[in-house]
Amino acid sequence: MKIYAITGTPGTGKSKVAKLLSKKFAVLNLNKEIKRRKLYKKYDNKRKCFIFDEKKTLKFVKEWIKKQKNDIFIESHVSHLLNLKYDLIFVFRCNPEVLYKRLKRRKWNKEKVQENLEAEIFGIIEEEARRKGKTYIIDTTNKSPERIAGEMLKYIKKES
Ligand SMILES: Nc1ncnc2c1ncn2[C@@H]1O[C@H](COP(=O)(O)OP(=O)(O)OP(=O)(O)O)[C@@H](O)[C@H]1O
Ligand SMILES: [Mg+2]
Repeated sequence: MKIYAITGTPGTGKSKVAKLLSKKFAVLNLNKEIKRRKLYKKYDNKRKCFIFDEKKTLKFVKEWIKKQKNDIFIESHVSHLLNLKYDLIFVFRCNPEVLYKRLKRRKWNKEKVQENLEAEIFGIIEEEARRKGKTYIIDTTNKSPERIAGEMLKYIKKES
C-alpha cells in the first residue's frame, strides 16, 4: 500500500482533484475530518481558522490507514505536516494572480486572503514538503482538475 499526500496553499485545487482520484483510490479529505471529528486545539479567531491538533489528527489518520487495503491519498494543506511516512507528496502550486481570484470568491476577510496569498508567493508549503520527503510539484495554473489528476497518475505509474 502506498501513501500519498496532496498538499498546497488553500485554493490551489486539492479537493477538486482529490474528488476525481476518489473514483480509483481511497482519499481522505483531512480538513473535513478535522472539523467533523474536532481534531483541532481551538479556533483561531484572529486568523479565522482551526488550529489542528497534530496528535489527535495523527491518531485518527493512522487508524483510518489501517482499514485501507489499496493505495491512499491524504489531502489537506496540513497533510505534509503529519508524522507519517509518505511514499510521495504532491504539492500543488498556483500563479498568485489566479489564486487571488479564487480566494476572493471565498467569504474570507482580507487578511486571511493576503496571508494565504503570501504563503503561496513565498512557497512556504513547497519548502516544508520538500524537507519532509519525496515531492512532486505541480503547477496547476491553467490546468483542468482532470489534467492534473492525469499528470499525477502518470507520475505514479512511472515511479512504480
Ligand atoms: N484546476 C482548476 N482550474 C480552475 N479552477 C479550479 C481548479 N481547481 C480548483 N478550482 C476552483 O478553485 C477553488 C478552490 O478549489 P479547491 O476547493 O479544490 O481548493 P483546495 O486546495 O482544496 O482548498 P482548501 O485547502 O481551502 O481546501 C474552487 O472554487 C474550485 O472550483
Ligand atoms: Mg480543500
